Amino acid sequence: MKAKNIRNIIDIKDLSVLEIDNLIKVANDIIDNREKYSHVCDGKILATLFFEPSTRTRLSFESAMLRLGGKVLGFSEASSSSTSKGETLSDTVCVVSGYADIIAMRHPKEGAPMVASKKSIVPIINAGDGGHYHPTQTLTDLLTISRKKGRLDNLTIGVCGDLKFGRTIHSLITAMIRYPNIKFILISPDELKLPEYIITEVLKKNNIEYVETNNIEEYMDELDILYMTRVQKERFFSEEEYIRLKDYYILDKDKLRNAKKDLCILHPLPRVNEIHIDVDDDPRACYFEQAYNGVYIRMALILMLLEVEV
Ligand code: CP
Repeated sequence: MKAKNIRNIIDIKDLSVLEIDNLIKVANDIIDNREKYSHVCDGKILATLFFEPSTRTRLSFESAMLRLGGKVLGFSEASSSSTSKGETLSDTVCVVSGYADIIAMRHPKEGAPMVASKKSIVPIINAGDGGHYHPTQTLTDLLTISRKKGRLDNLTIGVCGDLKFGRTIHSLITAMIRYPNIKFILISPDELKLPEYIITEVLKKNNIEYVETNNIEEYMDELDILYMTRVQKERFFSEEEYIRLKDYYILDKDKLRNAKKDLCILHPLPRVNEIHIDVDDDPRACYFEQAYNGVYIRMALILMLLEVEV
């Protein structure tokens, strides 16, 4: 079977700013009018092919399709699929794209969703590929920022933790540079700094203001957004190195003493130890709301890719 001309979301750049703004508008409408959308995908099937663990992304995709009236199938680990018998990704996707109308896939290898999209006859959505990109997490983040701050421009954004392997950070920076007057504070230990290709090809190339620091408190009073991330254990080659770095940043109430009153604290989750549970009661803690928003923006994305008119 040959791939026809279909729309895939591999990288956040596959969506224009106009399209992202429209997805946010639709997601907000879904939040306000859930019943209106409850049967618009009757008869449609979403396949979730997850070759790597997930709670939020897989379940929010499945919830999104179910809330639209559609159905879901798929697997949550490679070992329960014929991948364990040696089937190639291309063959798996070629077959499953005949069983579903749209596919969300997560894979530990960077570029795997791109490879899959060459074989699929239905849209492929990248639900996270290795340490590369996670575009639908970014849509979730943008919806949350837009709802909390009322804008996506004129923001100073601190991103903190594992900037090297944190795919959510790579996609978020790639998305946010398209809005006016965005400044980044890149907070990480030296070993986990943002990859050079993002510094050069995304930040410098687009004249985006940024500073690098390893001190989470240094710029705290300037931040509109503080985006915490987990140290990505699964991407480390050395357990010792992971153990040395894993608790480098633990955000607690004391570290927030100079933060703005309307700071928005985000985290793609899962959190391991990066945000102390005492922070959860702070009105600036938005990470659980961020996780809930994932369902609505994914509903909007499914509607767009399946060209469903509501
Ligand atoms: N944010 C996120 O990708 O979470 P999961 O790994 O649980 O899907």
